[in-house]
Amino acid sequence: MSGLETGAEVAMEVRNCLAIVLAAGEGTRMRSTHPKVLHAIAGKTLLAHVLAAVAEADVGTIAVIVGPRQEEVAAEATRVCPAAITFVQHERRGTAHAVLAAKAAIGPAPDDLVIVYGDTPLIRPATLLRLRAALGGGAAVAVLGFRPADATGYGRLVMAGNELLAIREEADASTNERAIALCNGGMMALAGPHALAILERIGDHNRKHEFYLTDAVEVARGMKLGAVAVEVEEDEVRGINTKTQLAEAEAVAQQRLRQAALDAGVMLVAPETVFLSADTKFGSDVVVEPYVVFGEKVTVEDGAVIHSFSHLVGAHVGRRVSVGPFARLRPGTRLGDGARIGNFVEVKEAVVEAGAKANHLSYIGDASVGANANIGAGTITCNYDGSGKHRTEIGKDVFIGSNSALVAPVKIGAGAYIGTGSVITADVPADALALARARQVVKEGWATRLRGLRSLGKKKAPSRE
Ligand code: UD1
Ligand code: MG
Repeated sequence: MSGLETGAEVAMEVRNCLAIVLAAGEGTRMRSTHPKVLHAIAGKTLLAHVLAAVAEADVGTIAVIVGPRQEEVAAEATRVCPAAITFVQHERRGTAHAVLAAKAAIGPAPDDLVIVYGDTPLIRPATLLRLRAALGGGAAVAVLGFRPADATGYGRLVMAGNELLAIREEADASTNERAIALCNGGMMALAGPHALAILERIGDHNRKHEFYLTDAVEVARGMKLGAVAVEVEEDEVRGINTKTQLAEAEAVAQQRLRQAALDAGVMLVAPETVFLSADTKFGSDVVVEPYVVFGEKVTVEDGAVIHSFSHLVGAHVGRRVSVGPFARLRPGTRLGDGARIGNFVEVKEAVVEAGAKANHLSYIGDASVGANANIGAGTITCNYDGSGKHRTEIGKDVFIGSNSALVAPVKIGAGAYIGTGSVITADVPADALALARARQVVKEGWATRLRGLRSLGKKKAPSRE
C-alpha cells in the first residue's frame, strides 16, 4: 500500500465528511426528455454510479441536489442510497448555488465537504480519498484536475507551481487560458470549517451570470486559504453533457468491467464484443463466447457457458448450464444446474430445473419446467390470452414433442409424454401420453390416379374419399 493511501486512511479515522452530489442540471445538451443523471451506462444510472463511489469512500452523510419537479431523480437517489438526504435547488443558477441548496447540511461544518457532479460517473472511491487527504494536508480547497484529449467545455486550472490560483470556465477564459491543458474534473473538496464562508462569497460575475463553484478557488485565495489540484486520468472524470460523451463513458465502463471479469477468471473469448452491466456476477470457470449482452441483474454460476449472440437480463444461470447460441433470457429466468437452453429459445419468468433441456426454437414464459424435462423444438407456452398472463407447469422428466403448443393455464404431470404437434388445452396426468392433433390419413395410389387423369387432359383431381 502506498504512503498516500495510508495517509488517507489515517485522515479518514479522524475527519468526518459530508458529500454533496449535484444533480439538478437540466442537461439540455443531451437533447432528451429525461433528466441527464438518469441516463445509464453499464445498466446503471449516472447518479447510481456516482452514489456508489461516494458510499464506498465511506463518507458520513450524502446529500443530493435535485432540480424542481425532478421527483424521479430524488427517487433514484433514495433507491440507491436510502440514507441520502435530497435538497431541491429551486432555480438553476449554477453549481455553487446548487451546493448552497444543502446549506442546512453544510452549516454544522463537517471536517471535509466533498462535492461531486452527478454527470461524472466513472469517479473512483480512492480518488475521493486522495482529495480528502489533500484537505488533511492543510489545503482549504482541493480540486480534481485532468488533461483531456479534447478540453472543449471544461474549466481550465490556472496554476503557479503547485498552487492552484483559479479555475476559468471556458466561456470566460482568455486565449492563453484556453491553451491550458489541465482541466477541472468536476469534483472538489472544501475544508468544512471554511466551506460556508467560501460558498457564500461566490458571485455571478461571468458571462452566464451563474454562481460557479469553480470560483471557490479564487475566493479561498482571497481569504488567504490554500488551494491545490489533485491530478487523475481522464477516464475517471469524463463529464457527460452529450450523447457522444455518454457513449464514450459507456466504452470506458465496459472496458473496466471486462477487465474485472477477466481478472476474476471469467473466460471472455473476445472481450471487446461482450457487454456487461455493473451488477453482472460470474462464478469460476465461466466461458462467454463473442457477442453476448448482459443486461441488469444477471448471475452466472460456475462452469456455465454462454454461447455467442445471446442476450440475458434479470436471469440466474446455474452451474454448468449451456445457453445459446442465439438465446434470449428475460427477467425472472432461473436455470438449474446443468440445464440447456439452445438456439432461438426465449425464456421469461420461468424456472427451468436442473438438467432440463430446451434446445431449439422455443418460447418458455410464465412457466416451471421440472428436472430433466425435454422440451422439443418449436414448443410454445401460450401464456397470454389477450388480457391476462397464465402459467404452464411442466413436471420432472416430461417429454414434450416438437412443435407443441401448451395453452396456459395448464399442467403437465411428471413423466408425461406430449405427442409432437399437439395443442394442449387441458391438464395431463403424470406418466400419461397426450395427443392433441388430427390423425393422419393415407390414400394408397392416389397420386398415381392423379397423374393418370392429367395425362388424359382432365383438370379434376381424383376423389379424396
Ligand atoms: C462543470 C465545471 C467545469 C468542469 C466540468 C467537468 C462549473 C461552473 N463548471 O462544467 O469547470 O470542467 O463541470 O465536468 O462548475 N448542476 C446543478 N445545478 C445547477 C447547475 C449544474 O445541480 O444550477 C449540476 C448538473 O446537474 C451537473 C453538475 O452540476 O451534474 C455540473 O453541471 P454542468 O452544467 O454539467 O457543468 P459543466 O458545464 O459540465
Ligand atoms: Mg457537465
